[in-house]
Amino acid sequence: MDAAPGRIVIGCWLMDAAPGRAADWLPVDADGRRASVMAPAEQSLLNKLIRHNLVNNQNQVEVLQRDPSSPLFSVKTFEELRLKPQLLQGVYNMGFNRPSRIQENALPMMLAEPYQNLIAQSQSGTGKTAAFSLAMLSHVEPSNKWPQCLCITPTYELALQIGFVITQMGKFYPEVQLAYAVRGSRVPRGTLVEQQIVIGTPGTVLDWALKLKVFDPKKIRLFVLDEADIMIGIQGHQDQSIRIQRLLPKDCQMLLLSATFEESVWRFAKRVIPDPIIIKLKREEETLETIKQFYVVCKEKEDKFTALCNIYGILTIAQAMIFCQTRSMALWLCNRLFKEGHQVALLSGELMVEQRAAVIERFRDGKEKVLVTTNVCSRGIDVEQVSIVVNFDLPVDRDGNADNETYLHRIGRTGRFGKRGFAFNLVDSQDSMDIINQIELHFGRKILKLDTDDLDELERIMK
Ligand SMILES: Nc1ncnc2c1ncn2[C@@H]1O[C@H](COP(=O)(O)OP(=O)(O)OP(=O)(O)O)[C@@H](O)[C@H]1O
Ligand SMILES: [Mg+2]
Repeated sequence: MDAAPGRIVIGCWLMDAAPGRAADWLPVDADGRRASVMAPAEQSLLNKLIRHNLVNNQNQVEVLQRDPSSPLFSVKTFEELRLKPQLLQGVYNMGFNRPSRIQENALPMMLAEPYQNLIAQSQSGTGKTAAFSLAMLSHVEPSNKWPQCLCITPTYELALQIGFVITQMGKFYPEVQLAYAVRGSRVPRGTLVEQQIVIGTPGTVLDWALKLKVFDPKKIRLFVLDEADIMIGIQGHQDQSIRIQRLLPKDCQMLLLSATFEESVWRFAKRVIPDPIIIKLKREEETLETIKQFYVVCKEKEDKFTALCNIYGILTIAQAMIFCQTRSMALWLCNRLFKEGHQVALLSGELMVEQRAAVIERFRDGKEKVLVTTNVCSRGIDVEQVSIVVNFDLPVDRDGNADNETYLHRIGRTGRFGKRGFAFNLVDSQDSMDIINQIELHFGRKILKLDTDDLDELERIMK
């Protein structure tokens, strides 16, 4: 066991181990029971704040086009795209050596004339934003001082993220300028926007086009809908997006990007984008094959804590995530662990998104070995080196049944790329035993009983 004085890491602040202080400092749910939920737009932003690299993906690309017999173009280098030299310089300056998997196919289509509409779907972090940013910069005629490319995105923060990418990529192309149509950016009535690229949220873009009339939507040649899956989850954005699209010229090129391709995204896409070519990057299936799953029978919360302490030595061999159902439980557990002298990080819903990113970043860098969290962290966030997951509380849905999907997301982050992973489930009642049985049945994989008092057995399974 780690005997160093414990510290709880919360957000970007390190707190000294004064028992009880963390609890005073952090607000806890009034009912103490509600699980943390993260809005999709926040989740997406969080991913971008903590990810500095391309998510490498060698999966198959599927292309569905109107005329299946027409040849498919794909490129292996940025040179083949015949970009303007200033843009090629910008791309290399960002450290991109070659197009990502989705970019190999999407970029030639985004840049080819006559322009074609495109829907591109690939997982978060695979290079979609970088691709359309390059397309926007390429399409602009810099001597024309009016908006020619328009991108709409669900939130203010995501708009700023895209703007940041375009600014970096266009670093050596200063003639092209960018305007943000987001809350708070005021353009006086009667003036005209001169920047060639506009990025904004749907409401403000509509205001700019219709109420303030600071740009002419009929002069837009490229329209991009980024984060379509998130867009449709935000009330009102769908209709506003369609209203914007109707203001644009008939021959305006349209690109729609999404990380998922669920039915709702597809319906939205069909309403907005006429005759699109569709590019999809197949997803790696999450499986439980390389993960060894165990359950530990405990009497109640204290007993679960003891069981956790028994396996704590194992957790710190690699890196572990411990999931609790509520914020207050996560905080309680963190406090207890740290009273025992363990250094753990706490990630929970009341932190600001940047604070959460800082916690995950520290964990990813190995500065903490154990992360205690609620469901906020169970999706989307990749920390590759996690090899152990503890379900301090089992994932249940509103009706108290097993939440198999969340279970898979939680433990699916271990055992990736053929590596071994371990999942420990702490069971404290007949109800939770029933949940284990439901999970076993659902995935058709055995969850083995483990006695955490038996250190020899523990050592044996870890070998
Ligand atoms: N060709 C490339 N080579 C190297 N890095 C790249 C390349 N394209 C993009 N990246 C980097 O990969 C990361 C993810 O790219 P990007 O944000 O474009 O992905 P995305 O598919 O839009 O993700 P999301 O769905 O989360 O918005 C960024 O840090 C970006 O700078
Ligand atoms: Mg993106």
